[in-house]
Amino acid sequence: MGRQVWKPGNMLYPLPAVLVSVADRAGNLNLFTVAWTGTVCSDPPMVSISVRPERYSYHMIEETGEFVVNLTTESLAYATDYCGVRSGRDTDKWREMNLTPLKGEHVQAPMVAESPVNLECRVTQQLKLGTHTMFLAEVLAVHVDERYLDAGGRLHLKEAGLLVYSHGRYFGIGKEQGTFGYSVRNSAGGKRPTDNKRSAGNKQLAENKRPAGSKRPAGSQKKYGRKETTGKRRR
Ligand SMILES: Cc1cc2nc3c(=O)[nH]c(=O)nc-3n(C[C@H](O)[C@H](O)[C@H](O)COP(=O)(O)O)c2cc1C
Repeated sequence: MGRQVWKPGNMLYPLPAVLVSVADRAGNLNLFTVAWTGTVCSDPPMVSISVRPERYSYHMIEETGEFVVNLTTESLAYATDYCGVRSGRDTDKWREMNLTPLKGEHVQAPMVAESPVNLECRVTQQLKLGTHTMFLAEVLAVHVDERYLDAGGRLHLKEAGLLVYSHGRYFGIGKEQGTFGYSVRNSAGGKRPTDNKRSAGNKQLAENKRPAGSKRPAGSQKKYGRKETTGKRRR
C-alpha cells in the first residue's frame, strides 16, 4: 500500500476539546467549544485559543480580554458537543446543559463548576491569521476540583476521564502507556512513594515498550529519573 498526499489542511490530532467560558462587560455569560487550543509557554504560563470572528463569544473576548479554559471530561462530552454546535445568540447553553457558572478570582468570565480544571486567562496578544484569530493569553490561576487531589495534594487528573477530540470524533483518553521520561528511566528509579502500585506498572510498561535489543542510555537516570511533582516539570 502506498501513501497519499492530501492538500494542506488541519490534521493535528488528537486535541483537547475545551469549553471556553466568557462574559461581556454587561455581565452576560456564554460558553463555546474550542479544539484549536494549545499550551504555548511555560513561564509565563500561556495558552492560545483560535476563534472565528463569527462566533457570538468572539466579541466578548475582544471586549474584556478575558476567558476561562475549562477542561472537559467524558461525562461532559454531550455538553461539549452541544456548546460547539449551538450559539449563545439563540440559546442559554448554561441552562440547556445544566452547567454551573462559578466566580473566579481574576477574571469576570465564569468558570464551569462541572469541569475538573479551570484556567483563568487574560489575553496578551491577538493575531488575525485568516479564518481564525488567535488569542494568546496568560494563565492567571488554575482551579482544580479537590475530588481529584489525594491527601498529599497531588493531582490525579487521570481520574477525571478527560475528553479528546480527533478527526471529528470524541474519545476518552484510553490506557496509560508510560510516564514522562519512562523511555530512558533506570529501572531502579521513577518509583513514586505515593503510588507504588502504579509506579510498578509503569516500570513494567517501560520494559514492554523498549524496542528489542535497545539499551537504556547511560546516565539517563540522572537526567530524567527525578520524582514527578505537580507543577515542577519544565518543558
Ligand atoms: C469539537 C468542536 C471544536 C470546535 N473548535 C472551535 C475552535 O477551535 N474555534 C472556533 O472558533 N470554533 C470552534 N468550534 C465551533 C464553535 O464552538 C461553535 O461555532 C459555537 O456554536 C460557537 O458558540 P457561540 O456562537 O455561542 O460563541 C468547535 C466546535 C466543536 C463541536
